[in-house]
Amino acid sequence: MTERVLTGITTTGTPHLGNYVGAIRPAIAASREPGVESFFFLADYHALIKCDDPARIERSRLEIAATWLAAGLDTERVTFYRQSDIPETPELTWLLTCVCPKGLMNRAHAYKAATDANTAAGEDVDAGVTMGLFSYPILMAADILLFNAHRVPVGRDQVQHIEMARDMGQRFNHLFGQGRELFVLPRAEIEEEVATLPGLDGRKMSKSYDNTIPLFEGGAKGLKDAVARIVTDSRLPGEPKDTTDAALVTVHDAFASPAERAAFHADLQAGLGWGEAKQRLVNLLEGQIAPMRERYVELMAHPERIEEVLQHGAAKARRVATPFLAELRAAVGLRPMLAVPRAAPAAAAQADKAALPLFKQYREADGRFFFKLVDTHGHTLLQSVGLADGREAGGWVKRLKTEAAAALADAPIDWAASGERAAAEAALAALAAAQD
Ligand code: TRP
Repeated sequence: MTERVLTGITTTGTPHLGNYVGAIRPAIAASREPGVESFFFLADYHALIKCDDPARIERSRLEIAATWLAAGLDTERVTFYRQSDIPETPELTWLLTCVCPKGLMNRAHAYKAATDANTAAGEDVDAGVTMGLFSYPILMAADILLFNAHRVPVGRDQVQHIEMARDMGQRFNHLFGQGRELFVLPRAEIEEEVATLPGLDGRKMSKSYDNTIPLFEGGAKGLKDAVARIVTDSRLPGEPKDTTDAALVTVHDAFASPAERAAFHADLQAGLGWGEAKQRLVNLLEGQIAPMRERYVELMAHPERIEEVLQHGAAKARRVATPFLAELRAAVGLRPMLAVPRAAPAAAAQADKAALPLFKQYREADGRFFFKLVDTHGHTLLQSVGLADGREAGGWVKRLKTEAAAALADAPIDWAASGERAAAEAALAALAAAQD
């Protein structure tokens, strides 16, 4: 079975070297593994929670998309899209909002941190807290559950949100699944091996510490200047260096092969000066980053190309999301209003029968067998793909008549040529009910 891996990137800020090593590079590598189907998206609705500056939102989405593409994301393999291009996400958010206990949200770390800070400052507990911040985990659960992701690679701070998504998925399954697992329950995946990269001052590289090394910003010079500012101890050239606790070495090792690492450590222990070591680090980084930077600059000069890639990704994502959301809507009772036969006297039953959708079987000139379900106006509700065997087509019609929506999952349906899944399900339910 292929496993579905999904992760979102909140589009605030400009990617730095730490983001590249900690998130972008491992995600792209993982997406190339056989047997996985990856969904990566720009979480721009999440960005709105933290940022009310439209220019920054716009810029960050563009920079982050360009960075992932420049870093080698294969958008034929991976479904790469913007959250805000998927209207099914906010729709599902609402369905989940209606089953999510408020108490669960009260316990979310981000919300608790905000209320704790308010309390400590003697303010109203909810001062400055928007509903977006409060219900952030519900939007995130919708992102994940909409695509039935099995695995969600995230940082430690996000693990609680994945557990909440499981919780909501479970509740929804229980309330509306009628014994069926509508949602796959996702599990968080924390990349233990990926070291967090230290910043210029040796603390974790983070924009909030103002200690980042830029990835593409500022070009080759920006990178070189940042490396020059990495803090080292005051040992002079010729003195042996301690390689176990130096930010410079950790950054080096994140980009070096085992042989390069060993040589760098040995040379430092033998007295290589920090200045020269920095030059070697710059060369190592440039070797890997320069080709990506070139692609990045090219993409940033052509935002319309990025737009096209994202639109293509959104269409791919919606081929999954649209039929699934129709199923979820039907599950909660938001169904098309079709004539459903009542227990009726014989004459009325006869009339109702005439109002029922009808299965048709036929054979095309190429010899293949088809079936379809049409409503009383002649609209096609379901259209099968071509089948080599006429008995197989007949068998499916029989199963769909008796098992209704339950048989739909396996049936050879050409959804592109069919109507809304929810309408087909309602029609099948009506047919099954009429037979009882
Ligand atoms: N909240 C995540 C973060 O800040 C980003 C995100 C949004 C996400 N939706 C997601 C991550 C769904 C994984 C799955 O890092």
